[in-house]
Amino acid sequence: MNGVKFNLNYPVISESDKFYARAKNLIPSATQTMAKGPSQHVNGVSPKYLLKGKGSHVWDADGNEYLDYNMAIGPLSLGYCYPVVDEAIKNQLEQGITFSLMHPLEVEVAEMINKIIPNAESIRYSKGGADVTSAAVRLARAFTKKNKVLCCGYHGWHDWYVSVTKRNAGIPEEIQNLSYTFNYNDINSLEKSIDSNTACVILEPMVFEYPKNNFLAEASELCKKNNILLIFDEMWTGFRLEIGGAQEYFNVVPDLACYSKAVANGMPLSVLTGKREIMDLLDDQVFFYNTFGGEALSLAAAKATINEICKNNVPSYLRNLGAKLKNGYNKIAGAMNIEFSKCIGYDARTMIAFNEEYKNPLELKSLMQQEMLKRGILWSGFHNISYSHTESEIDYTLNVYEEVLFILKMAIRDNKVKDMIKGIPVQPLFRKTNVFNNESPRRKQRGI
Ligand SMILES: Cc1ncc(COP(=O)(O)O)c(C=O)c1O
Repeated sequence: MNGVKFNLNYPVISESDKFYARAKNLIPSATQTMAKGPSQHVNGVSPKYLLKGKGSHVWDADGNEYLDYNMAIGPLSLGYCYPVVDEAIKNQLEQGITFSLMHPLEVEVAEMINKIIPNAESIRYSKGGADVTSAAVRLARAFTKKNKVLCCGYHGWHDWYVSVTKRNAGIPEEIQNLSYTFNYNDINSLEKSIDSNTACVILEPMVFEYPKNNFLAEASELCKKNNILLIFDEMWTGFRLEIGGAQEYFNVVPDLACYSKAVANGMPLSVLTGKREIMDLLDDQVFFYNTFGGEALSLAAAKATINEICKNNVPSYLRNLGAKLKNGYNKIAGAMNIEFSKCIGYDARTMIAFNEEYKNPLELKSLMQQEMLKRGILWSGFHNISYSHTESEIDYTLNVYEEVLFILKMAIRDNKVKDMIKGIPVQPLFRKTNVFNNESPRRKQRGI
């Protein structure tokens, strides 16, 4: 645990704040990734800029060291500066970053993915998660010759998805009228949202709630019956829940699947996999090309990362460590008769949920974040465990949770939660609306 410790005071963040003051003049919302930005961290207490990482630890712009549970919001499946991956990147860097013709790594990585991901009869790459979810939606529209999309999670910044949220300014109404939602684990809501113009159902196979009553298999059946493509967004579950992702873990094979985050341990790469007859449309009908899709540093990183994940069965390691943390937290909370919070999710990725009945769960989250930071833990409510996290770090974290839960419990008892937050509390991550396909007129559905 070298370096990470209880601080007598909250971390000094003056260098972070100087960068932030400069950013505010130039960069709208100051951040490129909402989850990394000031709205997700108690403003005034939490560091805003990180300079360095090693293993599961990071150092901020003021030199403070933290144990990190965000891990770059998912990508660092192995850890910061993981030697085998960095070596692969450095070796490739000496040969070149990106080229004028294709690179053999495109083939090598495709062959590896073909072996481990059940539906990967055919594979394409891009850079960001939204690139491949959007490519999947376009393929589904072309293949089925229908237009509507049904979704129920977060799938990136592109028009077809952001249409279903309240942050839909700039998206033509004609586009908005093609995207609708359904409720996870509610097969009736999915069935009701389907109509004769539905091209695809896209969902994260699991976020923090396990599928119930065979939900994924039922959804797959429903799609087959209605000539609808099923797309799994495996941005989080891929290479984490199981080597072959959720499709392997739950044994439900979607028509198309989308990966990014953990596949290249921090290098920007996304992957679209799918059944050949659908993916073949990319040969000559559906357009999906970009400049950097075959960029070699990221592919070299992916090759090394996938090798390492398979060689060490990383998902199994993440499960074991994650279970210790999840069960440990719930045991501590139980022993303290705490009902306002619970640790939920699959073991390799869990979150601390705060009871909605508490009048302001975001205040509780803010106070917890502040007190975790004081004890050297960079925390946004999630545990994105990596292969670099260790048992002793989990033990340390559980000791910290014990102290922090007690502070929260007393703060609630004394009605002092808000007063104890020494900065601006965290904001909701993303506002969603329920835009079901089974009411009309459309504008009325949106409640606007
Ligand atoms: C489930 C899911 N899908 C899609 C995306 C979009 O990926 P990107 O931000 O790389 O475009 C994200 C990003 O966090 C995600 O969590």
